[in-house]
Amino acid sequence: MSAAGATAKPDAVRAWRSRPAPHIGGEIVVPGDKSISHRALLLGAIAEDPVTISGLLEGEDCRATRAALTALGAEFREGSNGEVLAGGQGPGVLCASDQPLDMGNSGTGIRLLCGLLAGLGIEAELTGDESLIQRPMERVAGPLRTMGAIIESRSGRPPLRLAGGARLTGIDYAMPVASAQVKSAVLLAGLFASGRTSVQQPGLCRDHTERMLRTLGVPVEFDSSHAALTGPARLRGGCIDVPGDFSSAAFFIVAGLLAADDGLTIRNVGINPTRTGLLDILRLMGGSIELVGRRDLGAEPVADLHVRKSELAGIDVPEELVAPAIDEFPVLFVAAAAARGVTRVTGAEELRVKETDRIATMADALTAIGVNAVATPDGMVVEGGAITGGQVTSGGDHRVAMSMAVAGLLASGEITIDDTANVATSFPGFVPLASSIGFDLAEVSL
Ligand code: S3P
Repeated sequence: MSAAGATAKPDAVRAWRSRPAPHIGGEIVVPGDKSISHRALLLGAIAEDPVTISGLLEGEDCRATRAALTALGAEFREGSNGEVLAGGQGPGVLCASDQPLDMGNSGTGIRLLCGLLAGLGIEAELTGDESLIQRPMERVAGPLRTMGAIIESRSGRPPLRLAGGARLTGIDYAMPVASAQVKSAVLLAGLFASGRTSVQQPGLCRDHTERMLRTLGVPVEFDSSHAALTGPARLRGGCIDVPGDFSSAAFFIVAGLLAADDGLTIRNVGINPTRTGLLDILRLMGGSIELVGRRDLGAEPVADLHVRKSELAGIDVPEELVAPAIDEFPVLFVAAAAARGVTRVTGAEELRVKETDRIATMADALTAIGVNAVATPDGMVVEGGAITGGQVTSGGDHRVAMSMAVAGLLASGEITIDDTANVATSFPGFVPLASSIGFDLAEVSL
């Protein structure tokens, strides 16, 4: 049986060549936030009234989520000003699909959709690409089963098979890891469970689901240690504005610190405090980053970021900053490679279960370009110094590919980065955007 959902990947393995470019600068806007875009599609699809989504990310991950929801019966339309129009029919619009749903490369897509479908008692099979089918799913299936869902997996990994018809009951769940995907999956199931669902978090993790639910009229209580709601809930309509993705801006924040003598501005970036751990870490390393024009865009805070070339120094990264910087470690390791002295990251074992094992992939990639980087079980020790250049592979990981392009700015030779097609999952248009501010970056065929 073929799968509905993600578009097929191109056969050719794409590659990039990043050459030294010690002076960059200018002004850019990065694409919409991936986490918020997934949530806008999932919640917009089931709202009782129309939802207008502006600034949605058109990356492959979000396209897979949209295609899966469409296969389940949801309707999305393009508005005349680039918005996406969703909702209006309530959760009853969704029904079982007779095809497996292909969530592509997206951990957020599969885990959040699993929670939503479990809550609604909809039968489905969720699967994904060769990276996604290796990623741990018990972290969501476990608490959802406690709520009453019937979910089978392949030894804790996708495909996930959800049985239809289960009626869930709210739980009080203490998450063992600070994971926004787990918290969100349980809350989405809780929307349609009976009674109160609450999730305790052992550390800060992103709260976009809670903020968006409030925008759509669901009373959610949340703070830095927990989130709770009472089901069954109804979602009203409204407008969702998606800010620029901080995690996409991160590549340019580090690039600016390495090479923007006259400064680099990144406009309209989400600065939700559950996401901006990288700013704190880079400032501790000596980075000059200013937040200008702080404002709210709907439920989320945004600002323009001004970054200027800075002398960076290695630090021991405080463990409380790991979770709010979790997606930024690939590029932070590059900043560490360009800093004076040693940077030590600990308490970051979650990096081992991302799109790749990001501790191993980044230690290998940095070593291949002459950096002394030693992987540890829960982090890395990086000695700053010269970056020589060489041939690396991203392992199919979008954030590793873009981080190595940033490393190319300061290398003494060329860096060839293999397997870059997956950058389209989160950052379509990265190469032309980077080139527009002075990167010497090109697509090549190997
Ligand atoms: C995400 C949460 C994080 C993050 C991922 C997106 C989300 O994962 O790494 O890229 O949108 O909720 P965890 O929840 O597993 O930490």
